[in-house]
Amino acid sequence: MPRKTKVVFVCLGNICRSPMAEAVLRHMAAESGLSELLEVDSAGTGDWHLGARPHEGTRRELDSAGISHQGITSRLVTRDDLELADYVIVMDSNNERDVRQLIQSGGYKPQGTLLRFMELLPEQQLDGVPDPYYTGDFSQTRELVTEGCSRLLDRIVNEVK
Ligand code: 4NP
Repeated sequence: MPRKTKVVFVCLGNICRSPMAEAVLRHMAAESGLSELLEVDSAGTGDWHLGARPHEGTRRELDSAGISHQGITSRLVTRDDLELADYVIVMDSNNERDVRQLIQSGGYKPQGTLLRFMELLPEQQLDGVPDPYYTGDFSQTRELVTEGCSRLLDRIVNEVK
């Protein structure tokens, strides 16, 4: 059995976009019989919602798709996340800036790849996943996150072959 590929999604509050991506990727992996291949987590760069469940809008979208968000609560991104994950996937360019700043100021040594989520969906010509905390459009978030997670899963499967 190969070592698990560790994925950590990072957004600002860890209540809207990154927990959506965490739940969707874990669900997709399970549906494809690939749970043993993946370790999926999410975290935020801001501490306003520590310990909180995902935003009601994120929970509603996940519930309507039959995707579990059980046990997901907001937490801050850690040094271990940034150094040990195979993929640190930031949801927008502000998250990328904040994560790069943490890596630089802490002298962290990342072993994996830092990706902007929308790099998985280049045809969309969007720099970041629009933040539904401000747009209110959680359905758009689910659409982008679902397509991007599907591409990511394909990529990981191809890498471990
Ligand atoms: P997220 O959205 O980064 O996708 O979880 C946000 C959640 C909370 C806040 C901002 C964005 N906030 O300012 O509290």
